[in-house]
Amino acid sequence: MIVTTKELFQQAYGKYAVGAYNINNLEQTMGLFKGNVESRAPFIVQLSKGARSYSHKLMLETMMTTADRIFPEAVFAVHLDHGDEATCMDCINSGVYSSVLIDASHEVLEKNIEITKRVVDAAHAKGLVVEAELGLLKGVEEDVESDEHVYTKPEEAEYFVKQSGCDSLACAIGTSHGAFKFSGDQKLRFDILEEIQRRLPGFPLVMHGSSSVPKDEVARINAAGGNIQGASGVDAAQFLGAAKLGVTKINIDTDGRLVWCRVHREFFRDQPEKFDLRDAGKVFIPEYARFIAAKNVLLGSAGQLDVVRAALAK
Ligand code: G3H
Ligand code: 13P
Ligand code: ZN
Repeated sequence: MIVTTKELFQQAYGKYAVGAYNINNLEQTMGLFKGNVESRAPFIVQLSKGARSYSHKLMLETMMTTADRIFPEAVFAVHLDHGDEATCMDCINSGVYSSVLIDASHEVLEKNIEITKRVVDAAHAKGLVVEAELGLLKGVEEDVESDEHVYTKPEEAEYFVKQSGCDSLACAIGTSHGAFKFSGDQKLRFDILEEIQRRLPGFPLVMHGSSSVPKDEVARINAAGGNIQGASGVDAAQFLGAAKLGVTKINIDTDGRLVWCRVHREFFRDQPEKFDLRDAGKVFIPEYARFIAAKNVLLGSAGQLDVVRAALAK
């Protein structure tokens, strides 16, 4: 069942975070749905601009509606990750997406509000919801690059949400995208979340760049011929603390890519005579499902599916 993130956040707020997983292909889609249904978790499928152009946007949209038929128990949102205005409008008119992220975080405040508001008006008119972003994550976010963290200012967040009418807000608190997140003993700025929650009680917040980049996963990749050095991520033990401060959506992409890389490197290292993509895919799909289920336990969303279904039925 495709639902809006708003419906998922109403159940999650203050208790757990919903996993928002980026996928690009059929094998990830199958593993994602299997892992969420098996761990009884509501979830968010994230489709980025890059994912939409990797195969074709229609291929991804069709996979979402087909997965919905294959896994009738699944309760999920279909969300555009880091959209520009034109891509948001395309998704709003697709009939498949239930949520979009308009990422105008690189613009000055008033311009960000102006663009976000246009997307909010179009989305709300069609029953979709909108995530917006304020502050910059260090590194690359689709088309936007920043050399430094530009932390979200709580007073601006309050103003931004009230002016733009967005339904949730991605805040910059020190995470970044990709496998190389921290230098030194850098800490996440939970004080920013706390102050935003005080100013906007009950308003859903989003944490991007939240992959954990597990050391053992990277070691296995390197032992199977990879060369990933100096990688680090977010300690998953922080997820529930963030959830208490209003974070209802936690974005995970990189960790899933690492699972894909590890499975395929080990598979072909250990069975050099093999060449059938399905043989490797048969290992990847259940492994990705196990990864998703384990992540949902850390997010607190595992086991919440029946509660969410019951609330939606009311
Ligand atoms: O924000 C970044 C996400 O991890 C999506 O990455 O643009 O390479 O698909 P992508
Ligand atoms: P990671 O790179 O930490 O997985 O973050 C993904 C993300 O924030 C997608 O929007
Ligand atoms: Zn992101």
